[in-house]
Amino acid sequence: MYTPDSMRVFVILPAAGIGTRMSAGSGPSASRPSGPPTPKQFLSIAGIPMLVHCLRAFLAAGRVEAIYVAVRQPEIERVQAQIAEFGLAGGKVHVVEGGNLRQQSVANALAQLVTETGCADDDVVLVHDAARPLIDSATIDRTIDAVAEFGAAIVGLPAVDTIKQVERTAHGAIITATIPREMIVQAQTPQGARCGLLRRAFAEAAADEFEGTDEASLLERAGIPVAVVPGSAKNLKITQPGDLELAEFYLAASK
Ligand code: CTP
Ligand code: MG
Repeated sequence: MYTPDSMRVFVILPAAGIGTRMSAGSGPSASRPSGPPTPKQFLSIAGIPMLVHCLRAFLAAGRVEAIYVAVRQPEIERVQAQIAEFGLAGGKVHVVEGGNLRQQSVANALAQLVTETGCADDDVVLVHDAARPLIDSATIDRTIDAVAEFGAAIVGLPAVDTIKQVERTAHGAIITATIPREMIVQAQTPQGARCGLLRRAFAEAAADEFEGTDEASLLERAGIPVAVVPGSAKNLKITQPGDLELAEFYLAASK
């Protein structure tokens, strides 16, 4: 697809979460009774930290000019060391401080990205969960192309199960409707937009104190159409302990 030479591509990797669902029950915390467990994005899959898997995929995508990784303040040094250890410290990767909510982490990184790069309104900014280590360069490329064409785009996985709307009850849930499967996609990342649109969506959300769990929800409420490019089950978000084994399996199967 044609992309004007002047269009630059930037990436934000929110990696400032503490992985509460990952460390619940018999997660890695069980083997570390003292002190907080290692946040999941720093755990290894096939011997390589998840964050490094992500950085490699985005650097391999070629069109990416700079990557901003948002981490908790005490993790900044560890992450910088990791980036150096894996030979990724070529000046493209920047580590910034995240916040208490994913949206805050992305907002902090976006502010720093704009200050340091002078990101133009037409430039592309992609946001990708550091906890999705199996993202591939082809999907990244397709997302960049879709943002260039439509202004905003996310990776989405078509639903395979029949989807029910429910009402929560004390004992579980009661079905209130069946939602046609073709009307559903499960939002993955990357999610991105032209820099000007993303900045507007974040500014409007902040002004209204709206909290969303992804970028698309902020873009949608700003009235910005968001395109969907196909994702895959392999691009899972490591959320619970068993997910690490699943990711190892996908990685081995794709070799
Ligand atoms: N994230 C972040 N800053 C936060 C919270 C989350 O940068 N304050 C990042 C996570 O590090 C992760 C991504 O956003 O890469 C997706 O979040 P999620 O999977 O929910 O991770 P956690 O919030 O760490 O996990 P949990 O919700 O189970 O606590
Ligand atoms: Mg979370």
